[in-house]
Amino acid sequence: MNYGFIGLGNMATAIIKGMCQSTMFAPATIFGLNRSSEKTNQLVEAYGISACFSTKEILAQADVIILAVKPHLLEGVLRDVAPFVREEHTFISIAAGKPLSFYEQFLPHNTVIRVMPNINAMVGASTSCFSAPARATDAQKQMVRTLFSTVGSIVELPEEQFAIFTATGCSSPAFTYMYIDAIARAGVRDGLPKKIALEIAASSVLGSAKMVLDSIGEQHPYDLVDQVCSPGGTTIEGVMTLQDQQFEHTIHEAIRAVMKKDATLQ
Ligand SMILES: NC(=O)c1ccc[n+]([C@@H]2O[C@H](COP(=O)([O-])OP(=O)(O)OC[C@H]3O[C@@H](n4cnc5c(N)ncnc54)[C@H](OP(=O)(O)O)[C@@H]3O)[C@@H](O)[C@H]2O)c1
Repeated sequence: MNYGFIGLGNMATAIIKGMCQSTMFAPATIFGLNRSSEKTNQLVEAYGISACFSTKEILAQADVIILAVKPHLLEGVLRDVAPFVREEHTFISIAAGKPLSFYEQFLPHNTVIRVMPNINAMVGASTSCFSAPARATDAQKQMVRTLFSTVGSIVELPEEQFAIFTATGCSSPAFTYMYIDAIARAGVRDGLPKKIALEIAASSVLGSAKMVLDSIGEQHPYDLVDQVCSPGGTTIEGVMTLQDQQFEHTIHEAIRAVMKKDATLQ
């Protein structure tokens, strides 16, 4: 099976890197088309994928087309693609905010699977989800799972839950980066060099995430909080301060704000 990426920006580059570094996809099966040629050349050089120079060419070469342009450019790309589509083509779109029904008008006879990776795909640690229409076969869904497992984990969700996934799975890395930087900055305030402070904060978040992942279904995250808080100790003071400052409420408000904006994109 051949894979064709339309749009070779940050996200496509991360996915192509994951595919090529895994043993599951040969670079010879990956084709790329980008508006400007520089990124295409870089990917050809770095991973040995094949360059395409027109929509017609990439649709002729690939069986699976991955749409990886910004959402506001998608309609134009789909109009360009439509004349060259064959029934056997499967489409994957990673565009934020566009529902499956949006693709029906341009590709009424093809399966389009919506995938939402997150930015951590760049280090092979994406948390991704996908939604597939009723016509999608098990083989098409398995292909999507295999492809995106090269850049992290992937779960299937009903499309109604896409917006909440986008907020909790895709926007949350930005919040986490802010949290890490805030911890590090507090360390700097009390004398730690920034680089060391960042390493401490980031590796502490990584380890904490592993603790939560390893104990899901067995321990509540607050059981872990309790394990860190010695009676009358130091950590409980920080935990109570976060609660007094509406830490959880602030996170909920941020997630709600993302969902509100997402609803305006459709
Ligand atoms: N970044 C994320 O964290 C993230 C997470 C989940 C989903 N997504 C989705 O992933 C998609 C891509 O995002 P990104 O961050 O990778 O964007 P990006 O870095 O801007 O990449 C988009 C690429 O599309 C190319 N392009 C534009 N029009 C084109 C056309 N007509 N034909 C071929 N190529 C074209 C651009 O070429 P130029 O080099 O000429 O600009 C650019 O390289 C978006 O729909 C976004 O919603 C992104």
